Amino acid sequence: MTLLNRRRFIQQSAVSAAIASFPSLLLAKKGSIKTAATPGFKADVEIEFTAHTAQIAILAAGPATQVQKYSARLIKGPQQTLQQIADSFLGPVLNFQQGQKVRVFFKNTLNQPSIIHWHGLHVPQRSDGHPMYSIEHGEQFVYEFEVMNRAGSSFYHSHSHNLTAEQVYRGLAGLIIVTDSDEQKLDLPSGEFDMPLVIQDRSFGDNNQLQYVRMMHQRMEGFLGDSILVNGKLNAEFNVKSSAYRFRALNGSNSRIYKLGWEDGTPLTAIGTDGGLLPKPETRPYIMLAPGERVDLWLDFSGRAVGSKLVMNSLPFAGTQPKMTERMNGKGMGMMHKRLAQGVEFAVATFKVTEKVSDSIKLPEVLVPFQRLSQTDVDNADKPIPIGISMKPMRPLLNRKSFAMDKVLEFERVALGTIKKIRIFHDHEMPAGGGMKHTAKVEAENPMRGMRMKRSMDEAGQEHGKGRKMGMMDMAHPIHLHGQQFQVLRRVTSMVKSDYASVKHGFIDSGWKDTVLVMPGEEVEIIKPFQDYKGLFLYHCHNLEHEDLGMMRQFLVE
Ligand code: C2O
Ligand code: CU
Ligand code: CU
Repeated sequence: MTLLNRRRFIQQSAVSAAIASFPSLLLAKKGSIKTAATPGFKADVEIEFTAHTAQIAILAAGPATQVQKYSARLIKGPQQTLQQIADSFLGPVLNFQQGQKVRVFFKNTLNQPSIIHWHGLHVPQRSDGHPMYSIEHGEQFVYEFEVMNRAGSSFYHSHSHNLTAEQVYRGLAGLIIVTDSDEQKLDLPSGEFDMPLVIQDRSFGDNNQLQYVRMMHQRMEGFLGDSILVNGKLNAEFNVKSSAYRFRALNGSNSRIYKLGWEDGTPLTAIGTDGGLLPKPETRPYIMLAPGERVDLWLDFSGRAVGSKLVMNSLPFAGTQPKMTERMNGKGMGMMHKRLAQGVEFAVATFKVTEKVSDSIKLPEVLVPFQRLSQTDVDNADKPIPIGISMKPMRPLLNRKSFAMDKVLEFERVALGTIKKIRIFHDHEMPAGGGMKHTAKVEAENPMRGMRMKRSMDEAGQEHGKGRKMGMMDMAHPIHLHGQQFQVLRRVTSMVKSDYASVKHGFIDSGWKDTVLVMPGEEVEIIKPFQDYKGLFLYHCHNLEHEDLGMMRQFLVE
């Protein structure tokens, strides 16, 4: 069997296994690789996307850098749908309107499988870029979906299992902007005053080429680059006018977490999070932005002198990496390896006021109507769906399992139309040898009870000092759920370590989210609706090395 055939075989048998165990999926799965347009789907927007290799001059001097890139061509729809970022390896910014029907023809010309995922958009399974739909060189995949999201910023990127991290690193990513009628009623900065800030870290080696390391210890911690790029540019500097701006910050890094802060101590004002505009602006001394997260920032440069500069920094923080790593970095070991360690301070971008304009719009006090979800909206308040985070040697896990295309656990099956409480927590039991069997059995009998039982055992263990060793690999994980956006119900911080103080004011939990950073010792309860679409929807760690190592599972909405 050639590699291609073998992959196809695995794909097909995965699909048929899923069909065998879940007959309700049969229709959704028939002819899983969709290669042609559905005549009945009347698209308002049609785009052709190509993934290809390209040479881009990223560094000021020396040879161009080889990247992987999405290029797009508008076949049908409003001209502003595609907004190119000049000389960037990033794909174009996609401008959608709520209610638009979108069709994308995706052509893969890379010599490896690939598929696009529309991170943040609520679309049917078949158009969500599940890795089972990865296509080979020369193949085409057709997406069709309606834009259901509220106004906000989302993130498209490659999602081919075990290649996601490297393909995103090499350039397969871009920003999505959705607008809606609620947003249009507001007077928000637009046009040149509405700017993308896609923040990523990269490492450049010989001949200006991107370096990506797949060594196990780096994959377990997540890949960290030593150069910070914004919109694909190093040492990004933007000329601004003395006016209000909206910055759409997206953390498109594989594993780097940013603690965004203005150099002169100006507080940060957020008007939106992953799932769109907030009910009202939120002001913080700094804002944490983990891989996959977005935050829409408001900054008014009026009153700043022409010629003045303002730097956006990533401020120092601690406690997100395993203890051992932080200790080594503290001893300067990180520096020896020429790495920019997680949590050190650096500049992200510089804004230079170059022109005075007479008037600027004012920050609205209230933004958009917002439906706050609470415990009373869920049907499982006492039995939250668990997302247990654990790290086995070489294997970060969710609910003690690695990703499998064709597997869902009993509690990963969710009835369509329900709203669920989900509890994301650190699951400390490190099953050694026979422990695994025991775990599997408990799960088979009653997964929910198993999880809860283990947790009380952990807590007891920690009280007696036994839990400490298990916590050695503890680190922060940005947990992302596909499908509909969720809301954070609460964070339980009674078990966090003292380092938590360096990040705790930076979480904005008052809006819709699709990715949430869970710190060591922290537990986060969220509320998530499972409406509109049946099918398989992934949840995973958005530390992309963790995701590729199998720290991913899926819900079956049925
Ligand atoms: Cu941005 Cu499944 O991910
Ligand atoms: Cu996603
Ligand atoms: Cu992780």
